[in-house]
Amino acid sequence: MSDSGRVERPGLIQFYSDQRNAPEHLYRSECRFLPWLAEQSHSVLDVGCALGGFAAVWKAFNPEIHYVGADLSSTLIQEAHRLQPTEDFLVANGTTGIPFTDSSFDVVAALGWLHFERRYPEALQELWRVASSRLIFDVRLVGDGSAGQHGFQQVPLHSELLSEDPPWPYLTVAWKMFADLVIGMQPSSILVYGYEGYPGPGVVGIDGKVCFAVFVLEKSPTSVVVPEVIAQLPWPVPGQVADRAVVLSPEELDVRVPSPVDLHQVNPDEIPIDAAD
Ligand SMILES: C[S@@+](CC[C@H](N)C(=O)[O-])C[C@H]1O[C@@H](n2cnc3c(N)ncnc32)[C@H](O)[C@@H]1O
Repeated sequence: MSDSGRVERPGLIQFYSDQRNAPEHLYRSECRFLPWLAEQSHSVLDVGCALGGFAAVWKAFNPEIHYVGADLSSTLIQEAHRLQPTEDFLVANGTTGIPFTDSSFDVVAALGWLHFERRYPEALQELWRVASSRLIFDVRLVGDGSAGQHGFQQVPLHSELLSEDPPWPYLTVAWKMFADLVIGMQPSSILVYGYEGYPGPGVVGIDGKVCFAVFVLEKSPTSVVVPEVIAQLPWPVPGQVADRAVVLSPEELDVRVPSPVDLHQVNPDEIPIDAAD
């Protein structure tokens, strides 16, 4: 998304200041990893932070964590500074260049925007570069045998803006193709958790369900030839991927990343962001 003006509508600002700043606002897929990541990390760079509400979320799980929020919208960053003057925020584009040296943050987060970004492969490389240990991000996956689609999200969150808001891209990516992409980034582990649902009513050009998937890529200090893959997804890991990775059972994820809550008991009304419009 290159036009930052699209995310600066007053209604969106209200949404990010009211509904994305506390642990109970986490979506189920985010909840699967974020508390664990916070406990493991001394620093986090939150790229696409909007108003920086996730400063409070990361700190709820680790009060000592050093949080830095970055967003390509200068309006949102200005507002983030006003709302939280003691936190660190900067304007930065997570796709074209993050102004930090390699491995600057234990964990880098990119939540809620890679499915709007046509250049997501470049963005992932750039986000990965500044992470020393882990990268967390979400994408919209489709299963083996399906091709990724390029739709549009007509009106994120506020229908009254229809006439003035051009559609955002809404990308789905095929699991096998995307697995190849992340294996190519040479992580030591690829952890994935996702579930299917329909895109929100403002999304057009996407047929059927998508899988709201959160990935965590882990980095090893030594070079890794064959990464581990642990996936809790609606579909198995594709056979071709298994040739390039060590595929562990889905249950291994519960051992590796203990779930902080019984995810089946999480607020059943919670829905991913693109379904919230
Ligand atoms: C849907 S909001 C998500 C905000 C927050 N991360 C959350 O999950 O609630 C997407 C945010 O990502 C920002 N964004 C989109 N593309 C970006 C990029 N290439 N670099 C940095 N920020 C970006 C937008 O400006 C917007 O504030």
